[in-house]
Amino acid sequence: MEGRLPLVLVLFLVAVQSSAGYRPLEQYYSDGRYSSREGAGRRYVDHFLDYAEAATDHETSDLAYYEPQRFGKSTFDVTEYGAVGDGRTDSSNAFLRAWDDLCGATGGRPTLVIPHGKEFLLSPLSFKGPCKSKNLWIQLQGTLVAPGSMNAWDDNNKEKWIQFMQVNGLTIYGGGQIDGQGKIWWDYCQEDKSCPRPSALSFHSCNNLRVSGLQHVNSQKNHISINGCNDVDISHLKITAPEESPNTDGIDISASNHLQIHDSFIGTGDDCVAINGFSSYINISRVLCGPGHGISIGSLGKGGAYETVEEVHVEDCTFKGTMNGARIKTWKGGRGYARKISFERIRMINAGNPIIIDQTYVNRMAAASTDEEYDAWSSSSSGDVEISDVSYKGVIGSSTDARAVYFNCGDGAGCRNIVVEDVEMTSAVAGKQLFAVCNNAHGTSSADRSPRVPCLLP
Ligand SMILES: *[C@@H]1O[C@H](CO)[C@@H](O)[C@H](O)[C@H]1NC(C)=O
Repeated sequence: MEGRLPLVLVLFLVAVQSSAGYRPLEQYYSDGRYSSREGAGRRYVDHFLDYAEAATDHETSDLAYYEPQRFGKSTFDVTEYGAVGDGRTDSSNAFLRAWDDLCGATGGRPTLVIPHGKEFLLSPLSFKGPCKSKNLWIQLQGTLVAPGSMNAWDDNNKEKWIQFMQVNGLTIYGGGQIDGQGKIWWDYCQEDKSCPRPSALSFHSCNNLRVSGLQHVNSQKNHISINGCNDVDISHLKITAPEESPNTDGIDISASNHLQIHDSFIGTGDDCVAINGFSSYINISRVLCGPGHGISIGSLGKGGAYETVEEVHVEDCTFKGTMNGARIKTWKGGRGYARKISFERIRMINAGNPIIIDQTYVNRMAAASTDEEYDAWSSSSSGDVEISDVSYKGVIGSSTDARAVYFNCGDGAGCRNIVVEDVEMTSAVAGKQLFAVCNNAHGTSSADRSPRVPCLLP
């Protein structure tokens, strides 16, 4: 008896502690919404696997609660539709049959189950809505693996691997993995950067989307593309690809509004998050980015296009070993605007171009196919995508570029209301002094910080 008491006490304490740690997540997984924000100091990366595990544990009891008899069938396990999880047998048709049933389900909590410990080979496929139920769940616990040959794609349709279209109220979660097997594409497209390649996971016209607790590796091109979606919450993802893999953006957003991306780790060969035209109200917080090209707004206004981005807020993020940090990039001669953008409490660890606006971006290769075309285009293009109301507050850490702050604005209206406050960086290269360069940038900066930014015009 005396010997047992401490053990009981220890077990009790462990139970209390782990339930306390998991509580916010359990709430989240139980109703499929992010109902409780993490405490400010929560270390998102360290805890990634805890999240995945908590999802797995919790889901078992959760499914039991939604008794199938009561609502009619509401869980659809892909293995019951013939999916073989041996990593080699194509399971696309089984997934599509399970999807049809899921999409037609009306009661309970319609859930597609992709079980743990199995690897499902999927050809390029589209999961299409609209579906009957207001909400749908995909519990991804196993691994989805892309074909190891480019021949699996039609010649004229190489843009997508797994696509969701017009599916509202979708939640994907469960701690599983998505493996794009990108290397064959990276090698093949090495010479020709415009060579068509799939996004691994794309969402088109999906409102009310939740994606959380997944690992996503080695996409052929972008890992996640979000186009034409409103109300999106993406969290607890771990997205990785080699630093040298071409165009493997983490999350690519276009024509979408009201997105939250948080508590995630993204380290790839290109932008961690790229925000493209006609997107607004995008909050990115507690993301660790690197390697990669940083968080980019743009490029906007390519070849004279009209594009807009506004209300983008990046907070409590870390850039580690990235080529750029907080970047806004617009094409010379483009139209539209990028405005109401803030970067707050950002840590740079050996980041290049930590703070950069380039309003005069010209990509000769992408803009024109011949020298004549290029000359004609660049001499006739005038005006800029307007950049205004951009703030950087509390940016600390180390820069690998001596020019740590660079505002390169066009010779028209320039950039307006740029605010730099509490920027305190040091050079990652011993003995170098950091400095700022501005061309036609208007705004204010707080004094006595590093680098000083005396070059902003009133
Ligand atoms: C997004 O960030 C802004 C600026 O910090 C904040 O005012 C707003 O409430 C955030 N939106 C959401 C939905 O969290």
